[in-house]
Amino acid sequence: MPAAGSGVRLGAGLPKAFVELDGRTMLERAVAGLLGSGVVDDVVAVVPDDRVDESRELLAPLGVDGHVVVVTTGGAERTDSVRHGLAALTTAHVAPGSDAAAQGSGTAGYDVLLVHDAARCLTPADPIRRVVEAVRAGEVAVVPVVPVVDTVKQVDASGHVVGTPDRAALRAVQTPQGFAPHVLLAAYDAAGEVATDDAGLVERLGHRVATVDGDPLAFKVTTGEDRLRAEIHLASERSLADGPQSISFGWRPYRPEPGSEPPPDPEENP
Ligand code: C5P
Repeated sequence: MPAAGSGVRLGAGLPKAFVELDGRTMLERAVAGLLGSGVVDDVVAVVPDDRVDESRELLAPLGVDGHVVVVTTGGAERTDSVRHGLAALTTAHVAPGSDAAAQGSGTAGYDVLLVHDAARCLTPADPIRRVVEAVRAGEVAVVPVVPVVDTVKQVDASGHVVGTPDRAALRAVQTPQGFAPHVLLAAYDAAGEVATDDAGLVERLGHRVATVDGDPLAFKVTTGEDRLRAEIHLASERSLADGPQSISFGWRPYRPEPGSEPPPDPEENP
């Protein structure tokens, strides 16, 4: 779980994974989502250097029911952070006496490795399960995808359009992406350059990458608008759970009491 990004585009003044949504950090939500899917045993969270102790504290309550949650530090690019996470996976965290420990080093005995983004912290269990099932069924690399709604243009350095790919053949790619462990480790051993997506590294090695259905809720929280969308979703979930109540997002509609004075006209009293 790479969570070591700076989150500059979100503009919250702190690393994105540590921004709270409805009282819980994105990091906690993302890790809890993976473990709650029922198909993930253990998580390595990769965080900024100065957030290790805080992360251990935040995530400790999730390391129960046999789950191991390890925290390690990230690097300059997402690719570096994932590489650090894989190194922690293969050296550090396997619980003594577990099946994984018995099976030795390298992939630490896991049959599937997932790489997720802390920023996709509302990802539901179903796409996570679909990814894992597809790897278990024999695919070496699997990505969750959603249809592309906008027409996509390819442009040159001057911004002029050089091509219009057929939209029906395009997909937007989400996480977690799932891999046969030896394939992901080989891709990272070979990766010299930065990639925005882990499956991209596997493709470069010539492996086939399968797709499964993603989910609109697995969107990446990148901008302030994404954050608002996430907050609205969580508030509506909470209100469904708590029963009828009002939800307020910084404004509320004016509802006069019967027989009360009309409000001042804002045009007259700006
Ligand atoms: O920047 P972007 O939203 O694409 O980052 C995707 C994920 O990768 C985020 O969860 C972010 O915290 C993580 N990341 C990282 N290390 C970096 C850059 C991004 O772990 N150097």
